[in-house]
Amino acid sequence: SWTPDHFVDSAVEALQNTIGPDDQVILGLSGGVDSSVAALLLHRAIGPRLHGIFVDNGLLRQDEFATVLKAYEGLGLNVTGVNAAPEFYAALAGISDPEGKRKAIGRTFIEVFDREAQKVQGARWLAQGTIYPDVIESVSVHGSSVTIKSHHNVGGLPEKMNLKIVEPLRMLFKDEVREVGAALELPAEILNRHPFPGPGLGIRILGDITPEKVDLLQRADGVFINLLKQHGLYEHVWQAGAMLLPVQSVGVMGDERTYERVVALRAVTSVDGMTADWAHLPYDFLAEVSNKIINQVRGINRVVYDISSKPPATIEWE
Ligand code: XMP
Repeated sequence: SWTPDHFVDSAVEALQNTIGPDDQVILGLSGGVDSSVAALLLHRAIGPRLHGIFVDNGLLRQDEFATVLKAYEGLGLNVTGVNAAPEFYAALAGISDPEGKRKAIGRTFIEVFDREAQKVQGARWLAQGTIYPDVIESVSVHGSSVTIKSHHNVGGLPEKMNLKIVEPLRMLFKDEVREVGAALELPAEILNRHPFPGPGLGIRILGDITPEKVDLLQRADGVFINLLKQHGLYEHVWQAGAMLLPVQSVGVMGDERTYERVVALRAVTSVDGMTADWAHLPYDFLAEVSNKIINQVRGINRVVYDISSKPPATIEWE
């Protein structure tokens, strides 16, 4: 019968048999469960010959890059953190259209990742955290069994660098990936993390993206996520986050009128993200989040809660 420990033993053995003794392996790390578990498995098999690349696209959550990089280093992974935020902001300047932003983010990711990957001497393999549902999806959508996730789309790198693909999780379902992660002692903080889109806060800032807007949204989102955790609600919702809306509304502060930004909170329950219901969070909790955001984040004077289900709404606003 399938157990995470058996899986780890046989996967490690298979990786050691497949990957040559001098081969170096490159892996893009995102802070998500799949790429992190793939990294731990490869690290157990080949140690520092696994070269993790973790790109800060400037669109991650508050403190996320530093915290996750530290967690990876604490696990002994050979990982390079790349601060590429200015490059992403430059590529995104003036773009408001959701697909345009996704394309700019994807293109910049490929450029940054390629540049880092080419610094790894003796690279023979590109590892990916592809899991079974990704494989099925790519077969039905693209008629091919090789999948490259949109947020880790590495473009033509495998051909350009003559890399072979290795996907140690491609037979696992998500819950099995989590069990394997637990067996490999992945910290709970990464193991139980909500899904987060590859384009990150870039598709949660409606309209064009500026570093100032990213900072505002990171702080509002940080308040929401921290309070969900403090109230024991984080694990009861499937995904949550804040959206920065492209409108201003009138408010009062003391005897001054304000004309500032609006944030929408989104929290959903779901099994697989294909359908979702808005999470019925307690009113008292929502009141606390709203007050804290408006009091602490200058520039936001109104908070609304999204009560739309998917379908017909989507989880993200873009
Ligand atoms: P929607 O908004 O379509 O989202 O209901 C379903 C799930 O997919 C995530 N999502 C993305 N993930 N790149 C990603 O890697 C994207 O462009 C993207 N758009 C949506 C979303 O966060 C949710 O988990």
